[in-house]
Amino acid sequence: MSKKASFVEIDENTEIKPSKAFSKYARVSSMAQYKRMHAESIEKPHLFWAREAKELKWQKKWDKVLNWEAPYAEWFKGGKLNVCENAVDRHVEEGRGNKAAIIWEGEPGDKRILTYQQLQREVCRMANVLTNQGVKPKDCVLIYMPMVPEATIAMLACARIGAVHSIVFGGFSSESIKDRLEDSKAVAVITADGSWRRGSVVPLKDNMDEALKGNKDVKSVIVLKRCENDVKMKKGRDFWWHKQTAKVPAKHTPKGFSAEHPLFILYTSGSTGKPKGILHTSGGYMVGTYTTCKYIFDMQEDDVYWCTADVGWITGHSYITYGPLLNGVTQIMYEGGPNYPDWGRFWSIIEEYGVTIFYTAPTAIRAFIKAGDEFVDKYDLSSLRLLGTVGEPINPAAWAWYYNKIGGGRCPIVDTWWQTETGAIMISPLPGCTPIKPGTATLPFFGVDAAILDEEGNECKPDQPGRLVIRKPWPSMLRTIYGDKKRYKDTYWSDYDGMYTAGDGAKKDKKGNVYIIGRLDDVLNVSGHRLGTAEIESALVAHPAVAEAAVIGKPHEIKGESIVCFVTLKGDYKETDELKTELRNHIGKVIGAIAKPDAIHFAPAGLPKTRSGKIMRRLLKELVNTGKVTGNVTTLEDSKVIDALEKSLKG
Ligand code: WT7
Repeated sequence: MSKKASFVEIDENTEIKPSKAFSKYARVSSMAQYKRMHAESIEKPHLFWAREAKELKWQKKWDKVLNWEAPYAEWFKGGKLNVCENAVDRHVEEGRGNKAAIIWEGEPGDKRILTYQQLQREVCRMANVLTNQGVKPKDCVLIYMPMVPEATIAMLACARIGAVHSIVFGGFSSESIKDRLEDSKAVAVITADGSWRRGSVVPLKDNMDEALKGNKDVKSVIVLKRCENDVKMKKGRDFWWHKQTAKVPAKHTPKGFSAEHPLFILYTSGSTGKPKGILHTSGGYMVGTYTTCKYIFDMQEDDVYWCTADVGWITGHSYITYGPLLNGVTQIMYEGGPNYPDWGRFWSIIEEYGVTIFYTAPTAIRAFIKAGDEFVDKYDLSSLRLLGTVGEPINPAAWAWYYNKIGGGRCPIVDTWWQTETGAIMISPLPGCTPIKPGTATLPFFGVDAAILDEEGNECKPDQPGRLVIRKPWPSMLRTIYGDKKRYKDTYWSDYDGMYTAGDGAKKDKKGNVYIIGRLDDVLNVSGHRLGTAEIESALVAHPAVAEAAVIGKPHEIKGESIVCFVTLKGDYKETDELKTELRNHIGKVIGAIAKPDAIHFAPAGLPKTRSGKIMRRLLKELVNTGKVTGNVTTLEDSKVIDALEKSLKG
């Protein structure tokens, strides 16, 4: 394959077909082949998915590929398997024992390589530690870790013993951990002393101690030494990772669990209330992440794959821990920030390890563009052969830069649309066959029956925006919201009969390419992170000064969206800049630093509401974006409110 860089003129109408050189070795190499396979996957899902599932190891074969009684699916019923055995032991058995599974770089520059064999030993040790601590199948283990191999080892160890992991992103606060501990009734915790972030230590263990105050469910806390920062260890409850693992054998026999055995819970934001625990199970999720990696990232034996996400998000679950290891590739894991010590860090890693497949987020790409090309130009990126993006719509300018500057005008870009709930990629090009275009995730993956519907449930015409739905079950779909079956049904399956509503607005062009427009609900996408306006509002009103709050998203050049808050204060409180700072920090404390707003505005005369008392966010958005309100305000209860807000924004 040619490694020469070339430059392609790109605008939003540019369509790029895969090169012959790429297609030749790709798993799917023509649109005719894609169409044939997609048709089969929709019409005969049992045939299609049985063939894929057979490539993995089942301790007992399934009786039935799919049992579907909307909205409840059972995939590979009757089958027994161990996801960890498939991601780790299978490769050792197949001769990949000495192949690098994880090549890791710490933020300060420390390096480690774990082969599949070494990974197996570490995972076995942790599985034995957890078992010795009394963790049983279906027990929940909360993981709060930095981006170190032990995060993946902890996840795989849980999977190995049938425990359900629930990861909380390291940027979330004690209160967020507390909510998740309570909701999932976790019996054990795996964490670290601290985590490196742009040169300073995030005190993970201290945060955990705070979250564990008053908790009676958690019996043991396993603590990895990472930053050597001082931590308190509670006798009888807290144990050092290195001491525990040194005491147990590096062998452990993986037991088979039923295909619908719960694998993990991951909390994500919705339009109302507290984050919901999305539950994923074993067999279908395994097959879904395996298959998407194989076809969409075209993973081959000699690839060096790097996904820059954090294991605390679904991308890290599916495309760091599970999918790539199920495919037996070598992957890069990096602990720290993209700009540490400078904006060249990612490119230096790609050069050093010869990364071939690179998967990141549009928000990162926009930040790199802003930082300047000189950081890219220093490095040789010619090892790359495939690029991916995820998390939010990618604007054509960012797409063009990614394609030319990073991909050297030679690497296909897979713009992958999916969600925490979908478990695996749903809409994406296949790099060996699908013509790619900036701004579109293109066509549905195998088994995905995606449609765009209007309010009445009719399919939209080309270019007409509507709601994105999935009309058929797919293997890696969520099974429920943990502990709340009714909310599961109401949230995802009640807009249209028997169909999954994603919560995204979208349109299709004449060729069927899907363009994601964005969330239709009150969910924000800030730097690819999902946050509910309701969560931020409830954090604000929990502060003694705040009477009422409304939160909206404002388009942001780098982050995609930024958080803007409007607050009305209680009687005696004064509208000061100090109070604004206090409120920002308060949100950081309640939810986490990622939820700190970019702007807080006071609303002295109250918030704009309809006569029935609903906050009119539409008006707030218009006000923030244009400085005034021109739209329809006839339903507004009190028009003086707007005048006061316009003044407050100017002041
Ligand atoms: C929401 C899901 C799935 C991993 C990361 C986010 C948005 C995701 C794309 C894309 C446009 C995208 C959607 C979706 N989104 N990928 N390729 N193009 N928008 O997972 O936190 O569950 O968020 O992210 O709005 O609903 P998540």
